[in-house]
Amino acid sequence: MIQIKSVKEIELMRRACAVAAAARALAGEMTAPGVHTYEIDRAVHDFIVKQGAVPSFLNYNGYPRSICISINDEVIHGIPGSRMIKEGDIVSVDVGAFLGGFHGDCAATFVAGAADESAEKLIEVTRQSFFEGLKLARPGYRVSDISHAIQAYAESFGYSVIREYVGHGVGAKLHEDPQVPNFGKPGHGPRLIPGMTLAIEPMINMGKADIRLLNDGWTVVTADGKPSAHYENTVLITNGEPEILTVVDGIC
Ligand code: MF3
Ligand code: CO
Repeated sequence: MIQIKSVKEIELMRRACAVAAAARALAGEMTAPGVHTYEIDRAVHDFIVKQGAVPSFLNYNGYPRSICISINDEVIHGIPGSRMIKEGDIVSVDVGAFLGGFHGDCAATFVAGAADESAEKLIEVTRQSFFEGLKLARPGYRVSDISHAIQAYAESFGYSVIREYVGHGVGAKLHEDPQVPNFGKPGHGPRLIPGMTLAIEPMINMGKADIRLLNDGWTVVTADGKPSAHYENTVLITNGEPEILTVVDGIC
């Protein structure tokens, strides 16, 4: 069942989402050659806790860290650890914060140091695919209209969209109905209604869509070894323009 949030619940979501967005920004600032991924996890964890919030992912289905850091061919759910970030790495950071009974969920992809052109392009298209979907995140459209817009935009650059992991409703639970795939025919799925809060999160591969799971049980990598990027915001459906809740100082 899709949870429609009340005005009061939306205000609580705004606070949780602001913490998540600030935590994502911190992770982005820390992303640099020579930094170990556990250092980013630890700093972001401490930041979230200092805001009075709890990292949403820690212990979620047994996930062992507070954030996900997925590098190059890693698509999502990379576990921070002893890996050192290198110059030119494509670093996707996914952060969730639980505050006042609600979750905020967001992700972004950064380049460590100097980026090559193909990496910058992948990251920019992934980000823009979110905004293409966002244009249809309003009453009068259905969930799969968002999905289709993301897929059409990403594929127009020769990239591909993974099928196995999707966006989702978010609120009192990290994952709520409805699923928000990044692919599909338009005109299907639930109608969009004010008060819905959706995590819209394109995961875009430079090469083919196929993925596999590493032996750690979490890390999802591209089957062809080519890079992948991820961008996510928690979005509120309103009567008019959608509102991105995972912003801090106007930045998302
Ligand atoms: N943003 C991801 C999601 O919405 C993060 C989940 S990671 C997990 O599904 F560790 F919590 F599973
Ligand atoms: Co999510």
